[in-house]
Amino acid sequence: MKHLISIEDLSLEEALRLLDVAEAMAATQSRAVKKLPTLRGKTVINLFFEDSTRTRLSFEAAAKRLSADVINFSAKGSSVSKGESLKDTALTLQAMGADAVVVRHRSSGAAHRLAHAGWIKLPVLNAGDGTHQHPTQALLDAMTLRRHYTNEGRPAEPGSTLEGAHVVIVGDILHSRVARSNVDLMSMLGARVTLVAPPTLMPVGVEGWPCDVTYDFDEALAQGPDAVIMLRVQRERMSAAGGGYFPSPAEYHHSYALDIDRFERLNKRAVIMHPGPLNRGLEICAQAADSSRSVIVEQVNNGVSVRMAALYLLLASKESIHE
Ligand code: CP
Repeated sequence: MKHLISIEDLSLEEALRLLDVAEAMAATQSRAVKKLPTLRGKTVINLFFEDSTRTRLSFEAAAKRLSADVINFSAKGSSVSKGESLKDTALTLQAMGADAVVVRHRSSGAAHRLAHAGWIKLPVLNAGDGTHQHPTQALLDAMTLRRHYTNEGRPAEPGSTLEGAHVVIVGDILHSRVARSNVDLMSMLGARVTLVAPPTLMPVGVEGWPCDVTYDFDEALAQGPDAVIMLRVQRERMSAAGGGYFPSPAEYHHSYALDIDRFERLNKRAVIMHPGPLNRGLEICAQAADSSRSVIVEQVNNGVSVRMAALYLLLASKESIHE
């Protein structure tokens, strides 16, 4: 069985194949009729145990644009509130004739468990598990950056990498599955990645990751990065753990926000990225988020193409992601 659980499961060739197919999918989305017949007769289930706007909607749009039927499952209002387990929920969905499951879960490892526990025989696509991985977010980030770094924002040439790019990822690294997936993918594609966070929001063991680490955002900016990825301060995970990660929102903003002063110090070719949702005024100012340097809306747009590519390669292509 083939799945998309973690960037660590992908080789460079597989990651590039996903990005190149995503570009091919994107090219179909400027047509008057966006729908392709590729997954006609297939059913994709979106299984969301945690809130989502972008990921859930774009997986739904991606499946529908490939002509699959889509069933959306949200834990809120389901029998999960009566204590039903992940296993029994999954068995129920398989019994309804699903061909693939997209899963978001608050627990790290939930997608891997669903894929490999032997409960179901369906491809599993990880839409974010706890603080572990968010592979399609990293792929859409890489697709967006690859376009800007290699081709001035136009579709990237097949096989192009991020060799020589410098990417700075700033904020709540500790709770960020996006940061973990992006470090794995961008470094695999040849980029140098620098993580910036206060010491309390830097994960234990980060020195073993394939990236640089600093607590000083201004020092990282002075190196003239090609992209700055601002991360959301995940207040819901902080309050669940008792809080106390930084003295106050104002102090966090002073040291770690992309504020107007830092925005004006970005080098001219740098793009501003954010996976969303944004805490405007906390980790990023409106002037930066809404500027011509911001590619945040492009990231959302590319998310549909990346998820079309993943669904295509897992459900329709003779050469799956893992050949
Ligand atoms: N980037 C991201 O995962 O956003 P959502 O939580 O809205 O899906």
